Amino acid sequence: MTIAQAPGKVILFGEHAVVYGRPAIAIPVQQVCATAEISQLPNAPSGQVFIQADDIALVKWLHEMNPDHPLARIINLTLQEIDISNFLPLKVKITSSIPIAAGLGSSAAISVSIARALTQHLGRPLSPEQVSSLAFEVEKLHHGTPSGIDNTVVAYNRPVYFVRGNPPECFSIGAPFTLLIADSGQASPTSIAVSKVRQQWESDPEGCEQLFDSIGEIADHARGLIKAGKISQLGPLMNKNQECLDALGVSSDLLDRLIQTALQAGAFGAKLSGAGLGGNMIALVNADCAADVQSALARAGATRRIRTEAKT
Ligand code: PMV
Repeated sequence: MTIAQAPGKVILFGEHAVVYGRPAIAIPVQQVCATAEISQLPNAPSGQVFIQADDIALVKWLHEMNPDHPLARIINLTLQEIDISNFLPLKVKITSSIPIAAGLGSSAAISVSIARALTQHLGRPLSPEQVSSLAFEVEKLHHGTPSGIDNTVVAYNRPVYFVRGNPPECFSIGAPFTLLIADSGQASPTSIAVSKVRQQWESDPEGCEQLFDSIGEIADHARGLIKAGKISQLGPLMNKNQECLDALGVSSDLLDRLIQTALQAGAFGAKLSGAGLGGNMIALVNADCAADVQSALARAGATRRIRTEAKT
């Protein structure tokens, strides 16, 4: 049996603006992950793949699936990439602890874990760059214009500074820092938030471009601070980034409430993370205030809290 895992992720700075060519920063989140398990299937014809994804109640042969289903797509793309069709029949079992449609990179992590497990099992492991570009193809099924940041941070499993169309820059974190990730409990498909921003951009291109520029500057500034370990200065940048996201119309009442709650309980900065309109928010904390912020978030309605350490 071959097992491969891929982490969740959070975007620290730059979501949405990254779709329009500005930089963004994301880090992997090891507390949640997707797992793909490949095993041999006796008594089936060679080249056949059986898929079991209990989380979405899917148990099917690959050849019986719609080729546009994300699981079928990543398996077919991966087999094409390594150009192997005549293999002993396989079972691909997928599980994930990453909440779906919550801004934590669930779809990218599932694709990456499958591509990795399958290619390792067949003796043709791929580089992070190759795995990332396969997962990128699948991300396009979820929304038409993905920036590519999710598949990149998940496949490289490292903090990444990302500009669409450029090679990703993995960078070192000067001093570790702690984030609380809190789920609003509102499922929010990325495609809906991305098309909302698109509509706003079409009706007010200048205003949106200015907001994207501000977000890009924040991301650039933040990269320098994170590399230099100047963590205390990150909080105000997160708050500024949140103001821009709010102006783009992708916050929500519940996200706003969680953000205000975290700040009042002592967090140094807080913002939504990912597509917004629901999903998760992140708060920058230290050891002194983490427990207070975490329980305040729970009282304010966060359905799930994850504490993660950002480090190289
Ligand atoms: O919600 P997520 O984790 O899929 O993040 C989306 C990030 C966006 O910038 C809104 C879209 C993208 O493709 O980068």
